[in-house]
Amino acid sequence: MTQAGQTPLPLVVLISGSGSNLQAIIDACASGQINAEIKAVISNKADAFGLKRAQRANIPTHVLDHNLFANRQAFDRALKKLIDGYEPELIVLAGFMRILTNEFVNHYLGRMLNIHPSLLPNFQGLNTHRRAIESDVKEHGVSVHFVTPELDGGPVVNRAIIEINNSDTAESLRRRVQEEEHKIYPEAIGWFADARLQLNDNQAMLDGAAIAQLEKSVNET
Ligand code: GAR
Repeated sequence: MTQAGQTPLPLVVLISGSGSNLQAIIDACASGQINAEIKAVISNKADAFGLKRAQRANIPTHVLDHNLFANRQAFDRALKKLIDGYEPELIVLAGFMRILTNEFVNHYLGRMLNIHPSLLPNFQGLNTHRRAIESDVKEHGVSVHFVTPELDGGPVVNRAIIEINNSDTAESLRRRVQEEEHKIYPEAIGWFADARLQLNDNQAMLDGAAIAQLEKSVNET
């Protein structure tokens, strides 16, 4: 629960698709589970369903189509300008499927989170559920991490682990992982909003203690 009387943490959420994580964050703000307010939702895709979720919640939305920019730098600079107009204290990547330039990442270092559907550092990149099935691992899951210049490599701040059953498919894993995503992302944002979570010298700290990181345990062929 939030501490009474504190100003809600201003957030900007970036999406590319369905926005089910965005919905979980909208709901957590509305219920008071987290002391934050979404100032804007920005999508690089005009048809992202998450834009409708935001509009339903009366949150300003923007579409910034990366195809209309000459290169990654130009897109990221326009995105930065748009975001900074809202003066957010935290940037939340919620299914935002773009690789970001170092310049952009460093501008928001320590105040940008991402959710990635694997137990990082395993399965960085795309198609994580299929790769988990093919790798014969017994456990899979999802990680919330600070965004640093290393792609999907920033310190993990929150994770959920699920057991893989013999009957699991990539699709069943996706569904089960998403249920966990909707719990652990609002929880992590709540920690940040309550000033309990920081990035300190490339270490994620919760209540002043370093958050344990996993060792890489899968070597894909
Ligand atoms: C989520 O499963 C998230 O973990 C994943 O995209 C999905 C977005 O779903 N993110 C990545 O793969 C980032 N590399 P949503 O639009 O329903 O929140």
